[in-house]
Amino acid sequence: MATTAVAVPKHGDASDPILQRAAAVLRRGGLVAFPTETVYGLGANALDPAAVARIFEAKQRPLNDPLIVHVAGDDLDGLARLDQLPDPGRARQLMAAFWPGPLTLVLPRGARIPADVTAGLDKVAIRMPDHPIALALIRAAGVPVAAPSANRFGHVSPTTARHVLDDLDGRFDLLIDGGPTPIGVESTVLDLTGDEPAILRPGGIAREDIERALGAPVRVARRAADGAAAMPAPGMLDRHYAPRARLHVCAGLDELLARHAEHAAAGRRAGALLTDAQSEACAGIGPQFVLGAGLAEVARSLYAGLRALDAAGVDAILITDVPRGGLGDAIADRLRRAAAP
Ligand code: TXA
Ligand code: MG
Repeated sequence: MATTAVAVPKHGDASDPILQRAAAVLRRGGLVAFPTETVYGLGANALDPAAVARIFEAKQRPLNDPLIVHVAGDDLDGLARLDQLPDPGRARQLMAAFWPGPLTLVLPRGARIPADVTAGLDKVAIRMPDHPIALALIRAAGVPVAAPSANRFGHVSPTTARHVLDDLDGRFDLLIDGGPTPIGVESTVLDLTGDEPAILRPGGIAREDIERALGAPVRVARRAADGAAAMPAPGMLDRHYAPRARLHVCAGLDELLARHAEHAAAGRRAGALLTDAQSEACAGIGPQFVLGAGLAEVARSLYAGLRALDAAGVDAILITDVPRGGLGDAIADRLRRAAAP
């Protein structure tokens, strides 16, 4: 019972008829799901509180979980008050280094951004996505686009158009199918409003790369560290990015194989998410989803793998932990949250 229209852009620049149609949907207050370089987003005109309210309703997302505003240029006039930052130069430096790209900056909220977007916070999260369809859509709409990941709240983020429909079909107006998203985990969220920058959520831009750009160490915020009334980054909820089956993160392949055997002995089906090399070493383990080789490939296919094993009806999903550093920080963060009870 598919009810949401799905369209594939013809050439993908702002004059594309499909993107023109999507832009018109946004301008009249509708919801458009679209690809970014990280995951698919569910977008609305960020300047229209009624449209923004529809996002929360469609996702069944709590109203105290603020949205990221997506822009197609670095003119933030009315969107953010860089002049109110302790160090405006730092923000400019990071935008020059990483935009467009998977770095979301938390900045003092500008007067044009309704409080509904930011869950009442006086800070707004802004990013410029590095995806031709997302950029063309925002330009064609002529407004900033508020967009969370296009999944049901708490579920695994979507990296294909099919994932979006599986979660939200019929709950929004138009889905732009741009194929699988290249990075596969969400953007890094960096709060610049304090005296020192703080990573609220590790993501597509590595902490090391931010540190290199700033020439200074960057800390990772711990949960509830600042005691804010609204959740500082609800990506920080314990159980988030979660499949239906119970996920277990194993220290190594020996533990994974032992747990797989334990499940089988108890009459339960466990699925495994394996790298290329692991899959070759344990061809007899099933069902298994092969993630690829290296952190970038694992990041790109992780959410598809979690969804595929869920769809296969397994009781449990097993994966080995990843090395920290680079994209490993984001992958490890998502695994930890997805595995939380
Ligand atoms: O890669 C991404 O960031 C994707 C694509 C669609 O852009 N978007 C995404 O949005 O992951 P969402 O809503 O699923 O996650 C946004 C995160 C949440 O953890 C949220 O709490 C945090 O950003 N955030 C948004 N506004 C904030 C604010 N004003 N202050 C602190 N954190 C904020
Ligand atoms: Mg999300």
